[in-house]
Amino acid sequence: MNPFVTKGYVSAKYFCDREKESEQLLRELENGNDVAIVATRKIGKSGLILHCFDAFDLKKDYNLFFIDFYSVGTLREMVYMMSRSIVNALAPKGTVRLQQFIAAVRSMSFVMTTDMAGLPKLNIQLGDIREPQVSLEEIFHYLEQSDRPNIVAIDEFQQISKFPEKNVEALLRTYIQQCHKTKFIFAGSQRHLMGEIFTSGAHPFYQSASVMHLGPIDKEKYREFACHHFAEANKKLEGVVIDELYNRFEGITWYMQKTLNAMFLMPNKARHYGLNEMEEAIQGVVDSNDFTYAEKMFQLPEKQKELLLAICQEGKASKITSLNFVKRHKIFSTSTVQSASKGLLDKELITEENGLYFVYDKFFEIWLRQNY
Ligand SMILES: Nc1ncnc2c1ncn2[C@@H]1O[C@H](COP(=O)(O)OP(=O)(O)OP(=O)(O)O)[C@@H](O)[C@H]1O
Ligand SMILES: [Mg+2]
Repeated sequence: MNPFVTKGYVSAKYFCDREKESEQLLRELENGNDVAIVATRKIGKSGLILHCFDAFDLKKDYNLFFIDFYSVGTLREMVYMMSRSIVNALAPKGTVRLQQFIAAVRSMSFVMTTDMAGLPKLNIQLGDIREPQVSLEEIFHYLEQSDRPNIVAIDEFQQISKFPEKNVEALLRTYIQQCHKTKFIFAGSQRHLMGEIFTSGAHPFYQSASVMHLGPIDKEKYREFACHHFAEANKKLEGVVIDELYNRFEGITWYMQKTLNAMFLMPNKARHYGLNEMEEAIQGVVDSNDFTYAEKMFQLPEKQKELLLAICQEGKASKITSLNFVKRHKIFSTSTVQSASKGLLDKELITEENGLYFVYDKFFEIWLRQNY
């Protein structure tokens, strides 16, 4: 198995450090606080939660639920996703637990079957949820009735601010506030949306959770981790590769894992991996996306394309709606920058942090520099 995981969470063995962060997260929960993890994309938010669930054996004392809101766009879909995650967590524990859930959420009509292994199976469909508000209340009631305390992690929580229903934040806040047995972890990637939800006085979740920021993994810990996994396979990784990866990718975990994953697979007679192999690996990842990237550019309206390239040229671009920026890149007007940047942000081709705009996918950025 390739020790550099690039999707999801496998086990503590393939997870580097995050000891302080895990401790902080657990301490907050034990002190009865809900936690909001707010950090840049692909740094390891979801991984941290799953690692805490797994490595500290929390399931001994808690019922654990992990709910991903990534693809959720309405209140109804949210209730669906919550029910599904609860059912998935309960199914291995047997029929009785599932029946308790069915009894608690009377507004939904489920049919219980058994799968091929003879385990109970509950098939929930979006259509089963006819009164989402009622079902939501029942779900919270169910959680609070439980024999043991619960931890509910909601990933990509910022999605709730995009729902067409306007009262969802307030509704959730009310239920969550009434919970005594259930602690919540909220994780989210879009810094401004998550920031707004938890730190803006106008939002119901204002000051309701301890906000935790997640930075890059400590460089020395990551060097140790990476070199160790190469050594386990009788390969040598030069330590300097890690310095270069932190420079290139600002210590964002996924890009470094992706590069090391590719390096690890590269045939190398000397079993020695240095900066040349790193460059080759990065180029390999970029090349493997060539078609996707070309397609993205092909579909982009001209003005968005121009703005994307201007931002790419600057690396981190500030004041993009200023006259100065517009003149420097010989592009249209400041008002067109405004609408083009909105388009690029919506498509997640660029992102904004602290007033700086940059290409979101760092491999795409490399590709753009090579092709335009
Ligand atoms: N401490 C770690 N050690 C090793 N790999 C890690 C670690 N944390 C995260 N990863 C890996 O890095 C990648 C990104 O992590 P993860 O998906 O947790 O980030 P995220 O911040 O939730 O990303 P997104 O913004 O896309 O939701 C994953 O492939 C994951 O396996
Ligand atoms: Mg995530």
